[in-house]
Amino acid sequence: MRNKAGLKFMAGETVYILNGPNLNLLGAREPEIYGYASLSDIEKAVRMRADLLDLKIEFRQSNHEGVLIDWVQEAAKKAGGLILNPAAYTHTSIALHDALKAMPAPKIELHLSNVHARELFRRISFISPAVDAVICGLGADGYVLALDAMRRLIDNRTDHAPIGMPNDREQED
Ligand code: DQA
Repeated sequence: MRNKAGLKFMAGETVYILNGPNLNLLGAREPEIYGYASLSDIEKAVRMRADLLDLKIEFRQSNHEGVLIDWVQEAAKKAGGLILNPAAYTHTSIALHDALKAMPAPKIELHLSNVHARELFRRISFISPAVDAVICGLGADGYVLALDAMRRLIDNRTDHAPIGMPNDREQED
């Protein structure tokens, strides 16, 4: 199969995009740090991008650690990839770390803000050692960029083909 740019890709993958505590308040919560886009604005932008990339999206938010862990476990069974903004659980949750370790598909940790340029406690992530990549500091755009990166991680999962190049797992059309 080929995408709209004429490049071959694997179709039909679902990417879970999970958001942690207080991200339901985006747009109103400390906008000087997190921006003015609401989580539903971000979801709309991500869904538009997902259509172009031929990805399906599960976009969710919870303020509860156990719910997020249940969703990571669900993603481990059903998803082609996971993009996770764990919010404050980034800096505290060994349980989320363990859940991520049990998921073989590509995983990206995402933050709107540059956590390294803020308070010292935000420089510690229990999530980073359990994921393939980390994106931070790009605001709401980070979600769309993470999805672009996820498309490549999924396509290149087995043979690490150069960016935009076909790989062995792709089907001929
Ligand atoms: C955040 C950064 C975290 O440190 C913070 O607790 C959040 C949001 C971000 O997207 O920048 O709630 O994950």
